Amino acid sequence: MDTAATYNDKVVRQFSIMVVVWGIVGMLVGVIIAAQLIWPALNFDLSFLTYSRLRPLHTNAVIFAFGGSALIGTSFYVVQRTCHIRLAFDKLAAFVFWGWQTVILLAAITLPLGITQSKEYAELEWPIDILIAVVWVAYAIVFFGTIVKRRIKHIYVANWFYGAFIITVAILHIFNNLAIPVTLTKSYSIYSGVVDGMMQWWYGHNAVGFFLTAGVLGMMYYFVPKQAGRPVYSYRLSVVHFWSLIAIYMWAGPHHLHYTSLPDWAQTLGMVFSIILLAPSWGGMINGIMTLSGAWHKLRSDPILKFMIVSLSFYGMSTFEGPMMSIKTVNALSHYTDWTIGHVHSGALGWVAMMTIGTMYSLLPRLYNKEGMYSTKLIDVHFWVSTIGVVLYAVALWVAGITQGLMWRAVNADGTLTYSFVESLKATYPYYGLRLVGGLLFFSGMLIMAYNVWKTISDKKPVPVAVLDPA
Ligand code: HEM
Ligand code: HEM
Repeated sequence: MDTAATYNDKVVRQFSIMVVVWGIVGMLVGVIIAAQLIWPALNFDLSFLTYSRLRPLHTNAVIFAFGGSALIGTSFYVVQRTCHIRLAFDKLAAFVFWGWQTVILLAAITLPLGITQSKEYAELEWPIDILIAVVWVAYAIVFFGTIVKRRIKHIYVANWFYGAFIITVAILHIFNNLAIPVTLTKSYSIYSGVVDGMMQWWYGHNAVGFFLTAGVLGMMYYFVPKQAGRPVYSYRLSVVHFWSLIAIYMWAGPHHLHYTSLPDWAQTLGMVFSIILLAPSWGGMINGIMTLSGAWHKLRSDPILKFMIVSLSFYGMSTFEGPMMSIKTVNALSHYTDWTIGHVHSGALGWVAMMTIGTMYSLLPRLYNKEGMYSTKLIDVHFWVSTIGVVLYAVALWVAGITQGLMWRAVNADGTLTYSFVESLKATYPYYGLRLVGGLLFFSGMLIMAYNVWKTISDKKPVPVAVLDPA
């Protein structure tokens, strides 16, 4: 079968390469800000290197550039393979690639300049927001256009997750960013006060739920069975946890606003939905991990599967931790502390980045018609440095967070605070050091990946025809 004529893999290749590039850039900025938290002088008194400007650059680069490129690229691959049809609208698909990269470039320029809406994960100003909306609609047309044209009646579950991710992100983006422009680089949100807070965390939490979860589950549902050479453990479970996950995520946002001026009943509602969210989240984790049942031995020799299974384990851990942190009494301790940052990265590095990396190792040789990656050994090295890196990161910040929480609430017999804020900061330093080491390890893994990818692509060896399997 001539895959080049059948499928549009060019756009998938472009996105996949950018996953590696943006992964390196985004994580490098992460390492820099982790170092700045220990040595603030590393901003060299330059406005564009200050922590407050680099932090949103980091979050935008890792979530939208690294994660976004992976999700759009793999969805284009998966929808073609599972619908047995070429991507709809080649030119529009190319526009999605170049449009998305333009958005990223504009973010990389405006954020260090301090141009921001000051809404977390939605910092970009209104002209870029409009471009995002246009690119996203084009993306939806290509994806759903392909589903409409499909040659297979059944719509494979991965596409349901990708589809939910595409529709929801469009709605979240448009409504959270409604603003009145004042100049080209400044606008004011149409929401104010607690309504603004509610809107922002409805958006923020569902960015986690759909960008960092539903889309990544789409990736998982295609590439884990593919790599394991096994069917999905339970198709019924995948459908049940899909509908429950998307129904419940929508209501959990208020757990970000505990003990604020948001009405108490809304906070409690958010808490209850967050606790219920454990069930559909674990449905996905169990389904992914159990796909390996009968093939566990493959974990011994296949580091790509190791990436995927450890990723699913982190998914399970972070979606257990999240519901616990949403309980108001627990949140009273964890909120504002580094525990939150530890939780974020056990999800973002442990689950999102590790699934993305595993998927890229599985996908890239297929895209470039190679028998496999250049070096399996290097994938294994990458796996170990990443795993050690993320464990160090998460453990360091759990300890730091609980230490901070306990120090802040400690009171003397006469009611005065036992510790000053600076004392708690001092107690945190060793853990910031450990987090930096963890981050450096994870980042160095990305450099190993870049080398391996480069060697794989530039390898000129002829490929046996058997490898050109398109499915
Ligand atoms: C080498 C890897 C990484 C390092 C060293 C790193 C470091 C950091 C640091 C230092 C912060 C600021 C924490 C603070 O304000 O106290 C941060 C925030 C954040 N990072 Fe990373 N990061 C890395 C990878 C990632 C990845 C891959 C993702 C997503 C896929 C991610 C998502 C986030 C998010 C969402 C926040 C904001 C958290 C919040 O506001 O609660 N990071 N990161
Ligand atoms: C059942 C699933 C989950 C629940 C119920 C949950 C719950 C929570 C809670 C209670 C917080 C702390 C809010 C605060 O005190 O400010 C939080 C923060 C956060 N979580 Fe989760 N979490 C879940 C899964 C995940 C996953 C899988 C990821 C990443 C892939 C993630 C990413 C984040 C981020 C980025 C924040 C920080 C937001 C910010 O303040 O900027 N969460 N989550």
